[in-house]
Amino acid sequence: MKESYDLVIIGGGPGGYEAAIRAGQLGMSVACIEKRINKGEPALGGTCLNVGCIPSKALLDSSHRYEATKHDLADHGITTGEVAIDISKMLSRKDAIVKQLTGGVAALLKGNGADWLQGTGKLLDGKGADKQVEFTPLDGSAPTTITAKNVILASGSVPIDIPVAPIDNEYIVDSTGALDFTEVPARLGVIGGGVIGLELGSVWRRLGSEVVVFEAMPEFLAAADKAVSKEAAKLLKAQGMDIRIDTKVTQAQVENGKVLVSFDAKGQAGQETFDKLIVCVGRRAYKENLLGENSGVELTERGLVAVNDFCQTNLDGVYAIGDLVRGPMLAHKAMEEGMMAVERIHGEKVQVNYDTIISVIYTHPEIAWVGLTEEQAKEQGHEVKTGQFSLAANGRALAAGEAQGFIKVVADAKTDRLLGMHVVSAGAGDIVHQGMIAMEFVSSIEDLQLMTFAHPTISEAVHEAVLSADGRAIHAIQRKRK
Ligand code: FAD
Ligand code: NAI
Repeated sequence: MKESYDLVIIGGGPGGYEAAIRAGQLGMSVACIEKRINKGEPALGGTCLNVGCIPSKALLDSSHRYEATKHDLADHGITTGEVAIDISKMLSRKDAIVKQLTGGVAALLKGNGADWLQGTGKLLDGKGADKQVEFTPLDGSAPTTITAKNVILASGSVPIDIPVAPIDNEYIVDSTGALDFTEVPARLGVIGGGVIGLELGSVWRRLGSEVVVFEAMPEFLAAADKAVSKEAAKLLKAQGMDIRIDTKVTQAQVENGKVLVSFDAKGQAGQETFDKLIVCVGRRAYKENLLGENSGVELTERGLVAVNDFCQTNLDGVYAIGDLVRGPMLAHKAMEEGMMAVERIHGEKVQVNYDTIISVIYTHPEIAWVGLTEEQAKEQGHEVKTGQFSLAANGRALAAGEAQGFIKVVADAKTDRLLGMHVVSAGAGDIVHQGMIAMEFVSSIEDLQLMTFAHPTISEAVHEAVLSADGRAIHAIQRKRK
């Protein structure tokens, strides 16, 4: 550890650790302060690597294989013996992947000359040229003050608690607890039909839980294109997920080893009993012990750190990124902001294109989108044209037994410019990148129509969707033709 750095980053999640690596590449002296302990060991990687993106995807993959082996192989003429799941092995596999990745991040920081300071960072004073950061080590030694020419605040977020369902980490858990159930709950309640509820609800449903999702809003997946949320609700319900919209949990209490959930469903009171209850009603910026009284950093009314489009706070040389600031709480958004902040400190004029941040929900099929929904495009005054193609008519999807879902494109009818792409399909999270790249290059629908897509691929449905925007899809009867 040095007494003074070009850059000190507080928080070693995807935002902070990528910023540290980039700063090292650019030759800055950089320290990343991270206090997390995962399974007894200090760990970089933040929420995403330790208790978020990566462990959830490991469980989604294991549970998908289990369900597919149990239910889908017979169609292919494959017979198996009795299919069983060893939960402790599944959890160890997840933990090993997390350890491999967090260890890899530590090696990357070291390899790029960035110091990882294991402990808590607090910005005492960010106003002058030499910013003061207090560092309290995890090993219990006395706090020290480091100076830094620049500071990036990247302390991330934590789950929102609701008083009606207090977390006890045994029966009522947050997303972190739901990654470590040691057995499959026979009945699982989920408060919040958002991304975590659908992903972790899917994991345990596939493994045998009866899952009930309580969603307070009258609309399911309100942020998605209406066609997407409708299709997603249909598919998830067909899989056995009991999604109850417009339903508010009024109380959850543990009685005799079960969770008794009282709720109000469109004005009608009800009760259900579960073995476990996951509370996943959103996340909030985490600022405990982050800012000293004289830090000088301004916050927004909602308690986020206030930043401009370039993640600069009100103070010169102090940036804030990721879940701590406005915008979607997504790892890739945090990463890009971290890189932007470092490069701007280095004098580059880079910026993040917030219009092309992709959303993915890792259910099966996956749900992914980029850009504007049809509804948003209309609200923004575009004369809208859309194209949609069902995977039921895509040869590769049929051959793979993955013919559920569709690809939809939203475009401006006057300029032909692609405004959004919405995908429900196996691998949607990868397919939607075609829309992102096309939008970054300000592609028109015609540009995409004129490209050759390999056959047979699910990506051909992208081609058919853009063709259908002008009534030209080949493998569908077109009502409007051009
Ligand atoms: P974080 O990852 O939260 O990292 C911040 C770090 O800062 C933490 O490790 C914390 O310990 C540390 N810290 C905080 N305060 C201090 C301090 N004062 N001193 C030292 N260290 C401090 N996003 C996706 O894009 N894709 C997904 O598939 C996805 N899946 C998710 C699944 C789950 C179950 C959850 C909970 C989240 C998921 N997310 C996903 C969201 C994603 O994890 C976050 O958007 C992302 O981690 C935010 O990155 P960050 O760097 O801003 O903060
Ligand atoms: P979320 O914001 O996605 O969903 C929360 C849901 O809970 C909303 O639909 C909301 O209406 C509902 N809700 C709120 N209060 C409620 C209440 N009292 N009763 C019932 N329902 C209530 O938040 P979630 O799922 O907790 O995820 C947190 C964040 O993590 C998200 O912002 C997301 O971006 C990120 N994440 C991203 C993933 C991905 O990219 N695949 C996966 C998991 C999380």
